[in-house]
Amino acid sequence: MATKLWQKNTTPTAEIERFTVGRDRELDVLLAESDVLGSMAHITMLEHIGLLEADELRVLLTELRTILADIRAGRFEIEEGVEDVHSEVELLLTRRLGDVGKKIHSGRSRNDQVLLDLKLWTRRQLREVVELVKVLFDELLAQSECYKDVLMPGYTHLQVAMPSSFGLWFGAYAESLADDMLFLQAAYRLVNRNPLGSAAGYGSSFPLDRQMTTDLLGFDSMDYNVVYAQMGRGKMERNVAFALASVAGTIAKLAFDACLFNSQNFAFVKLPDDCTTGSSIMPHKKNPDVFELTRAKCNKLQALPQQVTLIMNNLPSGYFRDLQIIKEVFLPAFDELKDCLRMCAYIINKMRVNEHILDDPRYDLMFSVEEVNRLAASGIPFRDAYRQVGLDIEAGRFRPVKEVHHTHAGSIGNLCNDHIADLMASVLKGFPFEKVEAAEQKLSEG
Ligand code: ARG
Repeated sequence: MATKLWQKNTTPTAEIERFTVGRDRELDVLLAESDVLGSMAHITMLEHIGLLEADELRVLLTELRTILADIRAGRFEIEEGVEDVHSEVELLLTRRLGDVGKKIHSGRSRNDQVLLDLKLWTRRQLREVVELVKVLFDELLAQSECYKDVLMPGYTHLQVAMPSSFGLWFGAYAESLADDMLFLQAAYRLVNRNPLGSAAGYGSSFPLDRQMTTDLLGFDSMDYNVVYAQMGRGKMERNVAFALASVAGTIAKLAFDACLFNSQNFAFVKLPDDCTTGSSIMPHKKNPDVFELTRAKCNKLQALPQQVTLIMNNLPSGYFRDLQIIKEVFLPAFDELKDCLRMCAYIINKMRVNEHILDDPRYDLMFSVEEVNRLAASGIPFRDAYRQVGLDIEAGRFRPVKEVHHTHAGSIGNLCNDHIADLMASVLKGFPFEKVEAAEQKLSEG
C-alpha cells in the first residue's frame, strides 16, 4: 500500500482503504486534466506571493505540462494504492522532481482542489452539451421550415383535436431547446466561479492571490466567501443537473412522439431503415429502438437532480466525504446526454414525414373548429355556429374543408421560426467560451 498524502504514523487497513477510496481511482481520471490545470494556476500564484522560487515554478510547470500531454494521450492512470487524482499528480511530481513536488500543496486542500476540478471539468462538459443542443436545434428548425406547409393532426387527450403541422411539431422542440439553453447558461455562470483558495473550507493564513488564479483559469469571478465556496459542492452539481434534466425532458418527449408517430397506426413520420432495428422472430419489424433508449436514458437523467439532492440534502456546512459519492452519478451523466443529443440530431435530419396523412377520413373531424370559425366570421354568434357544426357532425352531414388560415404569431401559418432562432442566438451570445478557452490554452502552453 502506497503512503497517503495524509499518512503520519498509523496505516488504514486494506478494507477501510477500499471502502473510502471507492470508485475514485476510476472516476478521478476524468478530472485529471482539470486537476493539472488547477495546479498550474495555483503554483503560478504561489510563486507570485513568494512561496515558490522562480526556477522551482519553471521545473514544476514543465513537468505538469508533460503530465498534461500524457493525460491527453490517454497515458494516465491512478496507480493501485493511490487514493485519488490529486495524490497521483503530486506523487508523479515528487517521484520525478524530488522535494519541490511536495511544495505545490501550500495554501490548498483536496477539498478546494476537487471543487476546482469539478468546476473546470463541468465547464468544459457544459460547452459540449451547449454545442450539441445547438446542432439538434438547427436540425429541428430546418425540418420545421422544410415541412411548414404539411398538415398533421393535433391531439388533446390523444383524441384527434385540431389541425397542426409538421412545421409546428418540429419547431416546438426547437423552441423548447432554446428555453433549456437558459438553464444551461445559468448553470454555466454558477460553474464559472473560482473556488480555489477556500482550502479546506476556511481559507488559509498564506496571503493567497485568489484574483490571480481566477484570471489564470478564465473564471468570471470567484466564489468569494470560503465557507460558501465549500457549500457549492453538491449545490453546483444539483443545479447543473437541473439544466441537464431540462434538456433531457425535451428530448424524452420528442423521443416518445417519434416512437408514436412512427407506429403503423399513426404513420406520420418514417424513420430511415438504417436507423431502426429488427426482430429475431418477426421478419417485418423495423423498431424505433434508438428513440426508445433515448427516452429511457433521458427519463433516467431527469432523476439526477433528485439523486444529487438526496446525497447532500441533510449535510450542514463544511466538507464531508458524502460529497465524493456525487461524482458517481454526476460525471457519467454528461456522456449519456451527449450521446442522446447526437443520436437525435442524426435521426431528425433523416426523418421523412407523410405528406398525405389527412387523406384518411379518420382525421376529418379535426377541421370542425375551422368550420365553426368560418361561420362565426360570417356573423353567426360563435355559440350558435358551434352548435350547428356539432349537430352536422352528429347527423353525419359534416364535410371538412381541408384548408387552414392561421395567421397569428406562432400558428401553423406563421411559425415565427426566425424569432425562435433569435432567442437561441441571443442566449448563445452570453456564453464566454472564447475567453475561457484562451485562458486555459495560455495556462497550459505557457
Ligand atoms: N475524493 C475526495 C472527494 O471527492 C477528495 C477530497 C478529500 N478530502 C478529504 N477531506 N478527505 O471528496
